Amino acid sequence: MKRFRPYRETQAIRDKYADVSKILPDEFIYPYFVVEGKNVKVEISSMKDVYRFSIDQLLIDIEDLLSLGINKVLLFGVIENHQKDERGRMGYIADNIISQAVKAIKKDFPQVIVFTDVCLCEYTSHGHCGLLHSHDVDNDTTLPLLAEMAYQHAVAGADFVAPSAMMDGQIEAIKNRLKKEKLNTKILAYSAKYASAFYGPFRDAADSAPSFGDRKTYQMDFRTKNQGLEEIAADIEEGTDWIMVKPAMPYLDILYRASERFPNYPLVAYQVSGEYSMLKNGAQQGFFDEGRIFFESLTAIRRAGAKYIISYYAKEFVRKNL
Ligand code: PBG
Repeated sequence: MKRFRPYRETQAIRDKYADVSKILPDEFIYPYFVVEGKNVKVEISSMKDVYRFSIDQLLIDIEDLLSLGINKVLLFGVIENHQKDERGRMGYIADNIISQAVKAIKKDFPQVIVFTDVCLCEYTSHGHCGLLHSHDVDNDTTLPLLAEMAYQHAVAGADFVAPSAMMDGQIEAIKNRLKKEKLNTKILAYSAKYASAFYGPFRDAADSAPSFGDRKTYQMDFRTKNQGLEEIAADIEEGTDWIMVKPAMPYLDILYRASERFPNYPLVAYQVSGEYSMLKNGAQQGFFDEGRIFFESLTAIRRAGAKYIISYYAKEFVRKNL
């Protein structure tokens, strides 16, 4: 008989045999939803403890974030329905909501590393991630708009732009545009992004649900096993700096394989809105201990190979595990 229980006898012994290091505050990226106006801090109904902030309130919250040692943020813009149009213009006009937020953050807190989401779905009247052509998203005419949005975020001072539209060639289009403008902004590619029901609460948070159809013609089919790795390889070839797998918990196999195959590229996992709300609501209903459930799930994401984790639980994790 081989005895394993000696590895587990006491907390100190268990700590000694733990292979996975604790996630550090600066290995988290915290997502923010930014709206226009002043003095706005409104909780998102589908995501308890997550808010939409106007820029003034966002800056106050970032102070709290920094006090925890978290120095990375990912920004999403949320605009009113009447401001949206077919082409998502509000997303890439000069001084758009995200550019304003980036400037404000960089002015007050230059040490914050700012990532911006680059996608049309938050800004189009139809809620799809690119331009429509006879009821489907047209890949190639969408590319210059994504490049323009990335450019606007970059001149405002973003450290990373994070294209999430799942258009083929989006990394190359953005890279070329940044190069042409002599900007050295980096790219975090949402490379392996699956068409997932786990984004449900986000679409409420960002008010970005498609008005018809779904995103299956551009986001990945979760029944595939190797395509995600091919998507990452293509983004690397196009010049991305960092890579991502999204969602996280149901895709630990992809995450692990990506970490083995691309060890030289910082690998990010996005624990998405539905993963968060599932744990949060379950804990609130008393089904499990919240601190333990987010510790376990985030540790598993790290164990699978994520170097950085985007999570709505980042603050609570750090607070609980300081
Ligand atoms: C698209 C985008 C989405 C998310 C991040 N970027 C929504 C989607 O693709 O449908 C989801 C994030 C989350 O669920 O937390 N701009």
